[in-house]
Amino acid sequence: IPVVFEAVAPLRNQVRAWREGGDTIVLVPTMGALHEGHRALVAYAKTLGRRVVASIFVNPTQFGPTEDFSRYPRDVDADLAALAEAGADAAYVPTAETMYPEGFASRIELDGPSEGLCGDFRPGHFSGVATVVTKLINQAQPDIALFGEKDFQQLQVIRRVTRDLDMPVSIAGLPTLREADGLALSSRNRYLSAVERAVAPRLHAALEGIAKNLAAGGEAGPLLAEGLETLEAAGFGPVQYLAVRDAETLSPVTRVERPARVLVAAYLGRTRLIDNVAVAPG
Ligand code: PAJ
Repeated sequence: IPVVFEAVAPLRNQVRAWREGGDTIVLVPTMGALHEGHRALVAYAKTLGRRVVASIFVNPTQFGPTEDFSRYPRDVDADLAALAEAGADAAYVPTAETMYPEGFASRIELDGPSEGLCGDFRPGHFSGVATVVTKLINQAQPDIALFGEKDFQQLQVIRRVTRDLDMPVSIAGLPTLREADGLALSSRNRYLSAVERAVAPRLHAALEGIAKNLAAGGEAGPLLAEGLETLEAAGFGPVQYLAVRDAETLSPVTRVERPARVLVAAYLGRTRLIDNVAVAPG
């Protein structure tokens, strides 16, 4: 990678120099363990602006006490190589001390799109995400910050927060990158056993089935009940939620009249998988 920053001041100086030269700066926040989906984000970022800064920080405040923070995969050298290959101009790899210095005592409190779905099962998660993303944006001062639709609720929470707090940044989203069999690329897919990996694509297949029927005018309730049975029969469980929501506000929807989304979170063995697909009104 051309340049790696660990501290805020040199990062800001570089971004300022680029902006003075007339360049647009795009920030791509990540937690590392980079896969093809992250590389696609960086490549898409390059089409949005001349300069791309990718950050790598495994943010402790968005993991619950029983979640995988300590075993989250970490390989900074491989990540930096992947970022360079994808065309990033700089990597920002802050230390925990830079992000959360002694005495750190602030966090963003959320309503609206953070409620329900993952918000019900991961208390404090979106507050942790919103806080760290706000810090990363304030530190890097990009024109645009780019996120994947894979984490659709996260994307909508970040859109809401940056709007609500008048942050001078535009938020962009990229559709989910998938394996050929439909499984959404995720850093957590490496936790799946061979047998689980073979079952995993059924999650996306179930969402697509529901989306097709909704687009044809179907009612959410029975379609979701049937989808839940299909997932449980395939070996998923517990299914934390399977829901149809308005694509912008994430409020519940029974029949699709505006752009909507079908979203799911389900365990497959010990691995928690999430996915979502778009539904266009018919
Ligand atoms: P992480 O899970 O590393 O994801 C970084 C970015 O990659 C997110 O915007 C995510 O939506 C996107 N992404 C992951 N898998 C993708 C796929 N298959 N297709 C397209 N995009 C994909 O999300 C986080 O990190 C963190 O919560 C973060 C925003 C960095 C805050 O800590």
